[in-house]
Amino acid sequence: MRPALVFLQTQCLLCVFVGVCVPGVVGSLPHALPWHVSCPSRCVCQIKPWFSPDSVYHEAPTVDCNDLLLTKLPLPIPTNTHTLRLQSNLLSELDTAALHRLPNLTDLDLSQNRFSHVRTITQSRSLPSLLSLHLEENQLGRLPDAAFSSLPILQELFLSHNNLHLIAPGAFTGLNSLLRLHINNNRLTTVDPRWFRALPRLEVLMLGGNPVEALPERGFLALKSLRSLVLGGMGLRSLAEKALEGLEGLESLSFYDNLLTKVPTQALSRVPGLKFLDLNKNRIKLIETGDFRDMIHLKELGLNNMEELVSIEKAALENLPELTKLEITNNPRLSYIHPQAFLQLSRLESLMLNSNSLSALHQHIMLSLPNLQEVSLHSNPLRCDCLFHWAAEEASHLHFEDTQTDTRTARKVRFIQPQATLCSEPPELRARRVREVSSREMSASCLPMIPTSSLPSYVGVREGGKLILHCRALADPQPELYWVTPTGLKLGPAPSHAFEGLPAPAPCHSPTASEGFNHTSASSVSPSQARDNTPCNPYKHYRLLPEGTLEMNKVTTGEAGLYTCVAENALGADTRSVTVGVHSREKKRKRGVAADIKGYTLFRKDATLEVREVGQHYAILSWQNGRNLPSTRLSWQAIYSNTHTPTYTTRILAGTQSFNLTHLQAETFYRVCLHLGISEGAKHASRRSRETRKTQCVSFKTNDVPDPQPSLQLSPELTSTAITLLLLALILLLLASQGWDTEPSKEAGKHDCTHHREIKSPKALIINQMTERNNEHQPKQIRSSCGETDRLEVSTATPSSVAMETTRKA
Ligand SMILES: *[C@@H]1O[C@H](CO)[C@@H](O)[C@H](O)[C@H]1NC(C)=O
Ligand SMILES: *[C@@H]1O[C@H](CO)[C@@H](O)[C@H](O)[C@H]1NC(C)=O
Ligand SMILES: *[C@@H]1O[C@H](CO)[C@@H](O)[C@H](O)[C@H]1NC(C)=O
Repeated sequence: MRPALVFLQTQCLLCVFVGVCVPGVVGSLPHALPWHVSCPSRCVCQIKPWFSPDSVYHEAPTVDCNDLLLTKLPLPIPTNTHTLRLQSNLLSELDTAALHRLPNLTDLDLSQNRFSHVRTITQSRSLPSLLSLHLEENQLGRLPDAAFSSLPILQELFLSHNNLHLIAPGAFTGLNSLLRLHINNNRLTTVDPRWFRALPRLEVLMLGGNPVEALPERGFLALKSLRSLVLGGMGLRSLAEKALEGLEGLESLSFYDNLLTKVPTQALSRVPGLKFLDLNKNRIKLIETGDFRDMIHLKELGLNNMEELVSIEKAALENLPELTKLEITNNPRLSYIHPQAFLQLSRLESLMLNSNSLSALHQHIMLSLPNLQEVSLHSNPLRCDCLFHWAAEEASHLHFEDTQTDTRTARKVRFIQPQATLCSEPPELRARRVREVSSREMSASCLPMIPTSSLPSYVGVREGGKLILHCRALADPQPELYWVTPTGLKLGPAPSHAFEGLPAPAPCHSPTASEGFNHTSASSVSPSQARDNTPCNPYKHYRLLPEGTLEMNKVTTGEAGLYTCVAENALGADTRSVTVGVHSREKKRKRGVAADIKGYTLFRKDATLEVREVGQHYAILSWQNGRNLPSTRLSWQAIYSNTHTPTYTTRILAGTQSFNLTHLQAETFYRVCLHLGISEGAKHASRRSRETRKTQCVSFKTNDVPDPQPSLQLSPELTSTAITLLLLALILLLLASQGWDTEPSKEAGKHDCTHHREIKSPKALIINQMTERNNEHQPKQIRSSCGETDRLEVSTATPSSVAMETTRKA
């Protein structure tokens, strides 16, 4: 059903762009009238409604000889024939003398025949009243000079779906009145600016469907009157800056189904009068800042059906004061629209965003569109949490402050297909209609989430080529994004200084090295040094764009491996990893990936876990690691001689090299272990290399509690009262504990679990991974009531070292 819809939509759009569809509604047209003449056999002669190219209505004497397998012109044709229809016959030549006896012949339809030479139709004498000539779907291969000079007042010429591969520079000479020219779907490989010199009045030009890979600069300069240009399906990869120069009157432009990888912003700036723009079905990956700016007449913009579109960046559309309709639909990878993507779109009424991979539409977008009437968001994996609060029924009356009149107005934005606009997250709201979820039901927290569709799991790049990885995440508060390279280098907007004096996060790295890295030099480079322009600067090879895109030029085979994107805000983090394979120039393709990945996993020294600082209730641990191991975990356990204690585990975010363990008991021995994750590469590497990675453990004792300072001087009476109170309290406690013993322990477990889940603080969620032995000592119901074997607990840690397991699976 979808292709059909898409097709319809395309047709509809083209309709708009071409400017003229079937004029009027069929039902409202006057019916055909009888025409009493001697009609050629098997043909139908009637007076029929007819509209001139400039939409003037005529009652046209029409001879209809369509679909009759004719090989010759049927005779005699009535002399006052206005329209002659010869569609779908077998004509390859024409008795032009017969046509010249028709002084009022205005519309001649010869489409779907077998004409291969245009001269057989237009030779010798002129057809002085012909306005419209249909020659679609014939076998024309070339148009010679002055091919149509016998048609002095022709206004419409239809030549689409032929085999045209050669059009002489002067082919259209004499067509001074031509308004519409269709030469789409032929075999033209170039566009010759000389063709158009003879067409000063041309308004509509359809050139699409020709294998033209590049348009010439100033190719359309002569078309001063052109209003609509359709360049769909041409294989255009880019557009020269001056390709559209001179199209001063152009109102609608279609680039449907080309290979454009960027919005042709420069070229578009030459057509300031543009009202309708169709960029559907191109290979554009990003709509970038400033791509559509100051197009002051633009009314409708289509950015649909783009397989590769992942993100609409900040200020991508800015100052489009006439824009009323924006369509960004059916883009399977589009998962991110920046909260400030649309600026100064004061007249936007209709925002179509259905059938993308959007998880939310930021409220800021809604608030920035003061005239919005309707929005379509169905068929998106919508997240019904704080990012989507505005969409909930109760919150649907968005409030706008009019700064000039100082009034508040409420308005309701209409959802298109509300019954198909469903939540897909969180699990408890799945498949509910967004409009029927109340804002109370939507959670207030907004963890970062990197949509699955934005990053593939594997990306291949040629050695020496450019690697671009896009990572985007939505959350509230706005998350910070950083990348971790295979060597453990953390590439973020602002490197964290939380743990001053810690060793360098990653070894220095020369882009030309292809066999692992030199660890002896690594520890001598501090992060601050590395950011400087020292000869050994691991950061300068990379470029991190503000929205989370990582760019690398001249990629070497040594840089293959696992790259991890981390999105983090005060509430938590989400990570997504992508394996980059570098296809070496020399080696055979087959060996490429495996060999490259081996290069970075083998023979690396494993991390050394160290205790950097110990307090009464915390300890800071650090480790050095020359790799990106996304599933690294840290576990710890208090060690007492007599009792058994639970082991706590936390996931460590990729790129993190230290961790503040908090909520520890004072004066207690702890054992902490670092479990290095299995990297993607290691899966391909040999068993031996996997086994060499061992868990690292250290033990320490937390500091003693200082002796309490005597601070209260109590009177004897008060002391005795205090003792009485204490005794009372003890008795109460004893009673209470007996009462609790009779409670079903299942309840206790449940309570325990919810209690832990409900704690909300900008802190880490620590997973209590119970070991086999722990389970023997823990009541079973905790396991069952908390689901799986994990229990969530809260521990203080600085956000930069926090890892967490959310309901999502990385
Ligand atoms: C051609 O059309 C004109 C105007 O409608 C009409 O007066 C004239 O008779 C027509 N000629 C013929 C040959 O029918
Ligand atoms: C590592 O670097 C040091 C100092 O830059 C150098 O002396 C040593 O030869 C290097 N080792 C390797 C294996 O490249
Ligand atoms: C580690 O956590 C403790 C307890 O919350 C805190 O007092 C200490 O300052 C933290 N250390 C660092 C370096 O963040």
